[in-house]
Amino acid sequence: MKKALITGITGQDGSYLAELLLEKGYQVFGLVRRSSTVTFERIQHIQDRVEMLSGDLTDQNSLLYALQQAEPDEVYNLAAQSFVQTSWTQPVLTGDVTALGVTRMLEAIRVYNPKTRFYQASSSEMFGKVQAVPQREDTPFYPRSPYGVAKVYGHWATINYRESYGMFAVSGILFNHESPRRGLEFVTRKVTDAAARIKTGLATELRLGNLDAQRDWGFAGDYVRAMWLMMQADEPQDYVVATGETHSVRELVEAAFTYVGLDWKDHVVQDARFMRPAEVDLLVGDPTRARDELGWKDEVPFGRLVEMMVDADLERLRGAAAVRALAER
Ligand code: NAP
Ligand code: GDD
Repeated sequence: MKKALITGITGQDGSYLAELLLEKGYQVFGLVRRSSTVTFERIQHIQDRVEMLSGDLTDQNSLLYALQQAEPDEVYNLAAQSFVQTSWTQPVLTGDVTALGVTRMLEAIRVYNPKTRFYQASSSEMFGKVQAVPQREDTPFYPRSPYGVAKVYGHWATINYRESYGMFAVSGILFNHESPRRGLEFVTRKVTDAAARIKTGLATELRLGNLDAQRDWGFAGDYVRAMWLMMQADEPQDYVVATGETHSVRELVEAAFTYVGLDWKDHVVQDARFMRPAEVDLLVGDPTRARDELGWKDEVPFGRLVEMMVDADLERLRGAAAVRALAER
């Protein structure tokens, strides 16, 4: 039986990846940091099939202990301070976790067992102010946020360990991917949650920043398959994982509100608080290498993704309302 250690298992991608690896018969370990509240909401349904190990990407020894306990064949490093907006207010923490955390894990692997395969969650944010359209594996980086800068560091650290020590260390340059499990602070989930709230009478307006930004949005469940495929390849290699289609935030809002029968213009208010000091205007990836070499393809188109997320938010809010009504009887 293969063994995998996932950092960031309580996050969106960690939850989908854990499900996938369990389906494939892996023994799954998850690194979780200490918290005063429970953070297992996304993995509740599989919690008893996953072994949790306490650790933090800022604590070198905890990573070594986790490797000693799990003895993994594969490590998926998904943990990060992953919210771009927060990276301007907490740039040092973002660098510590999202950049240096990668080196800490690579060092732990090098010392403990350099034969362990390593996956790094790189990001299309590295392309930032894009130097070519669409973006490919060889497109130069131009990060536009402390988060993007930290991811560039992690990306090159991964390549450097591969080249310096011959480690199987790969980096997936993933474009934005979403799901009903997406954090509420990211724009897709903020929009689908708001559309559902307004529809059910719980809210009347939605405050957003830049409506012109364009993103290549896919479904997280599809993207974790690409991570696993990269780790099964004969040779370590970096891949762009994307749909190849781009949509603006305005189109996203329109799709979500139209789906619930509302006119977005009656509810959306632009708010300077959600504008960024430097914006990434346009992301669109070219996933040709992943398609040709890994046989990977996204399966959930943009419109279906938005509907899936709105449906899940409606169901959650209606479920909560029903529970409240029962309690008030
Ligand atoms: P997410 O939902 O924000 O999850 C982040 C995870 O990292 C959580 O489990 C969090 O734990 C954990 N974490 C944060 N700081 C940590 C620390 N110091 N030590 C240990 N764990 C820590 O992110 P995601 O959307 O699943 O993304 C997964 C990874 O892919 C991230 O590295 C992200 O930057 C990258 N990425 C994401 C996308 C995307 O569109 N989703 C695209 C490209 C790359 P808590 O639950 O305790 O907070
Ligand atoms: N979050 C948010 N909130 N974004 C908004 C808002 C708002 O109210 N209004 C407009 N936007 C715009 C942002 O300015 C940005 O251009 C776009 O919506 C997407 O923002 P996010 O959903 O926060 O995602 P992101 O693209 O910054 O970063 C995500 O994708 C990266 C991959 O490209 C994160 O998942 C990163 O961790 C990931 O690496």
